[in-house]
Amino acid sequence: MSKIVYILNGPNLNLLGKREPAIYGHETLADVEANCRRYAAEHGVELRFHQSNAEYELINWIHEARECACGLIINPAALTHTSVAILDALNACDFPVFEIHITNVHKREPFRHKSYVSLRADGVIAGCGIQGYELAFMRLMKLAG
Ligand code: DQA
Repeated sequence: MSKIVYILNGPNLNLLGKREPAIYGHETLADVEANCRRYAAEHGVELRFHQSNAEYELINWIHEARECACGLIINPAALTHTSVAILDALNACDFPVFEIHITNVHKREPFRHKSYVSLRADGVIAGCGIQGYELAFMRLMKLAG
């Protein structure tokens, strides 16, 4: 069984800690990556952590993961609410998929209540801040283990 986990982050998450800190908090994506690298090391898995503002890059990483990963965690950011292409890419994967949102999207504007990715995700974590990545990782390790 593969021991590679992908964690993908969508548009604007490179600005985490700088954009709208009252909503998204002060921790940066580098902090998220450092935490995730720690969990990965604790579980003896290889982590491939990426962020892009381009939909096609996220899709290409999902295709890459399809060939080698045991699971994938994705914060698709705004593409959550619009991207059939990301849903289709995830539907082509057999491994567990977790969707994570730093904020509770259900408490926010109505356009954030719809998620295409949730139609494929095995679990969804929203509103737990950046700790959501850790929670998704723990669940993935349980399923993949
Ligand atoms: C987000 C929620 C999305 O609605 C938003 O577009 C984001 C971040 C979150 O992590 O809370 O960019 O995915």
